[in-house]
Amino acid sequence: MTRLKIGVIGAGSISEAHLNAYLHNEEVEIYAICDLNEQRAKDKSAKYGASHYYTDYNDLLANPEIDAVSICTWNNTHAEIAISALNAGKHVLVEKPLCKTVEEAHRIQEAVEQSGKLLQVGFVRRYAPNTQILKQFIDNGELGTIYFAKATCLRRLGNPGGWFSDQERSGGGPLIDLGVHIIDICWYLMGMPKVVSVSGNTYNRLGNRSNVNNLSFYKAADYDASKNNVEDLANALIRFENGASLLVDVSFTLHAKKDELTVKLYGDKGGAEIEPELAIISEKYDTILNVQPQVDNLSFDFAAGFQNEINHFIDSCLERKTTLSPVQHGVEMMKILCGIYESSALGREVNW
Ligand SMILES: NC(=O)c1ccc[n+]([C@@H]2O[C@H](COP(=O)([O-])OP(=O)(O)OC[C@H]3O[C@@H](n4cnc5c(N)ncnc54)[C@H](O)[C@@H]3O)[C@@H](O)[C@H]2O)c1
Repeated sequence: MTRLKIGVIGAGSISEAHLNAYLHNEEVEIYAICDLNEQRAKDKSAKYGASHYYTDYNDLLANPEIDAVSICTWNNTHAEIAISALNAGKHVLVEKPLCKTVEEAHRIQEAVEQSGKLLQVGFVRRYAPNTQILKQFIDNGELGTIYFAKATCLRRLGNPGGWFSDQERSGGGPLIDLGVHIIDICWYLMGMPKVVSVSGNTYNRLGNRSNVNNLSFYKAADYDASKNNVEDLANALIRFENGASLLVDVSFTLHAKKDELTVKLYGDKGGAEIEPELAIISEKYDTILNVQPQVDNLSFDFAAGFQNEINHFIDSCLERKTTLSPVQHGVEMMKILCGIYESSALGREVNW
């Protein structure tokens, strides 16, 4: 069997999830790893058996042996690396968010169209087993028309610092980092209706709260609390052409009693939750039913989500499947995220 040769660009925290999943796919050879930090690239290559390592992604892309790449770098580099990779004839799996701006998103889309190569956006929650189960129920009309969704991802203490809290490299705070996942999963399950307006608010009232003791939280590979110019809370109301609406709130830090992750969808025949755990709500014979599917993991299964995402990417590179998260969906998500930031800055609803 000939195996697809993969290069992973960016060897920080999330690259572990990509590399582990590639390792468990028989049709893949982990061929090269690149990071600005040479020691990190070298260590990861040794750990995952990659025969090549680089510190400049252009050198990795110049290697004609490589068929496809995962981009796991800071958000501000996604556009330039994705476009260079597509132009070098590689298929691309790019971590979320697709990039930082709508203009960059359009340039990536053009590069996909001109190169004829595949680009999959890392909307990993679409590939998670709980989402896939619920999608079958939705596709078979069990919820009817979904007219309202509500998604919350509140961290009471969880600004990861480093590049995440540096606007220039991240493009924003919890909205672009966490909001992208929960907005996307609602939008995907609602059938990706056309957005007509967004109204958003962002706040930076609490800072990163690096002063807090005795409570641990997720940190970037290069944690640094000295720079923080991103929002710590965002909320938004997104309206769709079919009359449906989506209400969302996300934070890096908030005076909340505990962290909260909830994703709920309401249709005219039934409802559903996928976070904190999968549940389907319906009515039969004048009785309300709360249905709990009997499955291994009712919540987001991190390892299975990434394995499915990577397997789907490889199947799509080999033209056996069509990606569930193509570049067009990444472009639409950038319009929503940037629309929310714009609405907040203007202090009014933004329409399109
Ligand atoms: N899907 C998910 O659930 C999920 C979770 C975490 C992060 N992410 C995304 O993954 C990306 C990386 O996040 P992370 O948590 O791994 O960050 P990280 O800071 O742990 O790692 C990023 C790595 O990229 C390297 N890097 C940056 N620019 C580079 C360049 N031009 N060339 C080569 N290497 C470069 C850095 O040196 C660092 O090692 C981000 O886009 C983030 O939004 C996705």
